[in-house]
Amino acid sequence: MSGHLTYPLLDGVPVLLADPVSVLSGSPPRSAAAADPAKCGLPDPVTPHLPPSLFGAPGGFGQWLTSLGETCPDAVAAGFGSKHAPPGPALDVGCGVGTMARRMVTAGRATWAFDRSPHAVLLARGLLCGTLQQTVIPTSRRGLRRVKVPFKPITTNLQFCIADAARPPFAPESFAWVHLGDLMDDMGDDAGEVLVASEKLLKHGGILTLTTSYGAPAAPSETVSPPEEELLEALEAMGLSVVEQQDRVPQVIRDYDRGFRIRFAHIVAARKK
Ligand SMILES: C[S@@+](CC[C@H](N)C(=O)[O-])C[C@H]1O[C@@H](n2cnc3c(N)ncnc32)[C@H](O)[C@@H]1O
Repeated sequence: MSGHLTYPLLDGVPVLLADPVSVLSGSPPRSAAAADPAKCGLPDPVTPHLPPSLFGAPGGFGQWLTSLGETCPDAVAAGFGSKHAPPGPALDVGCGVGTMARRMVTAGRATWAFDRSPHAVLLARGLLCGTLQQTVIPTSRRGLRRVKVPFKPITTNLQFCIADAARPPFAPESFAWVHLGDLMDDMGDDAGEVLVASEKLLKHGGILTLTTSYGAPAAPSETVSPPEEELLEALEAMGLSVVEQQDRVPQVIRDYDRGFRIRFAHIVAARKK
């Protein structure tokens, strides 16, 4: 028996990590229903998918949300990917609850999505593929509301695995579009490694889309320079050319019925030459 590596499955999802035992011995959730969005830094599984106009906040703030319509970092990045990426498969790296993977499949692309958090991957697959039909969203610090998952199940063209963005389990030049959503800020010293690994996965002419948020709550200001200047320099140094970018895209995070956070994100699309 040589030449074959076998990897364990978690609720049917391949665990494609160098050390899968580390995940499996750490009491991972055994199903989407048991997975916890807080374990991947998200308030709940559903609201990260929704446009701000559906949040329904009170008063003038609610009117402002309505005025944003569909505008959010994912919508802008998905627009860039659809516009600039050549035909071919797409990859959502660090997919969280699968917000970009859902857009990629809806745009007609064969899509892979992975995250190193088993909670994220089981939730994303459960929500998108129809095994999780109900979930809860917080109404207050102690209150929860049961909600129906508001998407039609995706039955083809979407696959998940549990993997590390620094060592993605795909052959070089496998994808026409690779997305890094809200991933780089928290990566510290690993950010460069993840960027290089993601670039390798792109075919020539393929597009890397990135969303990076301003970490601290900040008012967009002409005098504050964007925090990701280094990122743009790194993309250029790797031979990627920026084809479109948009700064100060509002990202509204719904924590509770009356608790929201607003951040401003920078969205970049860069082409591999
Ligand atoms: C802030 S969430 C963003 C999720 C999603 N991309 C989005 O835009 O909503 C960051 C995600 O990156 C994942 N992550 C962090 N480091 C990772 C790594 N080295 N490999 C894979 N996923 C990672 C986390 O588990 C988490 O789900």
